[in-house]
Amino acid sequence: LHPPFSSRSFSLFEEIMESIQIFPGAFHYPGFLNIEQQEQLLDYYLSYQSDFYTPQLKNGSLMNLQTLCFGRHWNASDNRYYSFGVNTPNSKINPLPDLLQLLATQASEFHFPQFTNFDLGIVNYYTKYGRLGMHRDNAETEETLLSGHPVVSFSIGAAAEFRMGGKNYNDPVKNVILNSGDAFVFGGAARLRYHGIGKILKSKSPPFDNFLHGGRLNFTIRKL
Ligand code: SIN
Ligand code: MN
Repeated sequence: LHPPFSSRSFSLFEEIMESIQIFPGAFHYPGFLNIEQQEQLLDYYLSYQSDFYTPQLKNGSLMNLQTLCFGRHWNASDNRYYSFGVNTPNSKINPLPDLLQLLATQASEFHFPQFTNFDLGIVNYYTKYGRLGMHRDNAETEETLLSGHPVVSFSIGAAAEFRMGGKNYNDPVKNVILNSGDAFVFGGAARLRYHGIGKILKSKSPPFDNFLHGGRLNFTIRKL
């Protein structure tokens, strides 16, 4: 008899089977992270909580979320990356943790097998009143953007209405509900589509409510 639990090599295949294409190059993976992985991501928030800050846009208004960066600092007021924090509680930027790099590679390897070298992470914390306006992720290098190197997102805590549109701000949008543990991957032809967060929904993730106060964490992993 074969040992009953000797191999989990089929698990990635199962996860691939569950991906839903929203646009060419944009894929939703409901329930990609198991509960232990979600707790590990929550731990990044808990251990770096005092380093989170509210980014300020060029026009002076504050964003409706709090942020922490890994690998490079993303500065909201000029949409550029820096090797040190600008207007942050802590100017030191920690490297992208290996676990985030690994999870991003696993989430993207079926549709984007040629891209593995993720080196940046932006963590957003949304209270239940949080929002994120429609925008494109276009601060990365020209090489990254031209190659279509994907952005991989992981969500923890309360669900959210994720909205994805087209290459122009006013293009029609599709709404996708992102629940705790979901991954969303957008690269290739979808890399520069507008997207944003319309509304944080009532939490269906009781294990995380105490820590996130009914709010939501989102990790976006990219390559500079
Ligand atoms: C982002 O576009 O930077 C974050 C998206 C999300 O919170 O799901
Ligand atoms: Mn974005």
